[in-house]
Amino acid sequence: MHIVLNSPLDMHLHLREGDMLQAVAPMTTASFAGAVIMPNLVSPVDSPAKVRRYKEQIEAAGKSASFAAYMTLFFRNYSRAELAAVRKKIIGIKLYPAGITTGSDSGVTDFASIGGTLALMEEMQIPLLVHGEAGGFVLDREKEFLEVYLRLAESFPNLHIVMEHITTAEAVDLLDCYQNVSATVTLHHLLITLDDVIGGLMQPDLFCKPIAKRPEDRRRLRDAVFSGHQRIMFGSDSAPHPRHKKECCGCAAGIFSAPVALPMLAELFEDAGRLDLLQSFVSDIACNRYGLQPPAKQVILEKKPWQVPELYGKVKPFGAGQTLRWSIAA
Ligand code: NCD
Ligand code: ZN
Repeated sequence: MHIVLNSPLDMHLHLREGDMLQAVAPMTTASFAGAVIMPNLVSPVDSPAKVRRYKEQIEAAGKSASFAAYMTLFFRNYSRAELAAVRKKIIGIKLYPAGITTGSDSGVTDFASIGGTLALMEEMQIPLLVHGEAGGFVLDREKEFLEVYLRLAESFPNLHIVMEHITTAEAVDLLDCYQNVSATVTLHHLLITLDDVIGGLMQPDLFCKPIAKRPEDRRRLRDAVFSGHQRIMFGSDSAPHPRHKKECCGCAAGIFSAPVALPMLAELFEDAGRLDLLQSFVSDIACNRYGLQPPAKQVILEKKPWQVPELYGKVKPFGAGQTLRWSIAA
């Protein structure tokens, strides 16, 4: 038994730089036709020159002609000239509230001061991708941020806003209120809850931002995805950190899921009896919402057990050591 996926896309991916980029990029380019590349590098990707340089590094590291690196720019206030110069080279601009996650120190501190840039983005049809968490109690951060989404969606009705890695039932509800809002959902938020992270012995490998939530939130995410929601697309938020930065005091946030994403999604969709929706979740909906024409690439999943390695170089993958039912055919 096998599944053919046409041009699967990962709509939220962290590739890093240097050795880490060299190690992880091929794992995505092997099984995806494209990915939205996050700009939260140590020195954020916040100029046309940095976008160009980073894209070249990714293409060199990825070693695949059939892969599109959809670049994002790190949100700050940009002039019309800056946006005009970079518009055709990016898929969108990623907004981080300052200090909310890895590499977001220079993010937005004052949402009242960014209207000018958002109006330009709306006019130039540049999507806004958002890490939607406010600074309150950790389990409520996404919920508290929803009012910002609401204001943005109403003030800029022609701006395509993407709520990245949603984790709560309330975020799914908000999505239903605005046509100009889409969302990405990760593999791990469809699989785990906070119990998996801290309910038993603490699992640093499952620690990420936003933190996994309650069973009822996971249920709502699953219900939306397995009912074929037309504005929810797959974004892994695969975020590699070396093992010594995870298994230590002050564990870094991020789950490395790139090499296991498609086999695990196949398992999940099969268990839900909705394998018929996998193609749209991992490609068609994103193509629709963003108007993409990704490189033609067929990825074949076969029903052949595969044991996830304990380690890829210095990074422990999601599901390390587990045996999965599906594997990617060579
Ligand atoms: C991401 C990272 O490590 O860059 N971490 C994470 O837990 N998801 C940043 C992010 O997307 O929040
Ligand atoms: Zn991310």
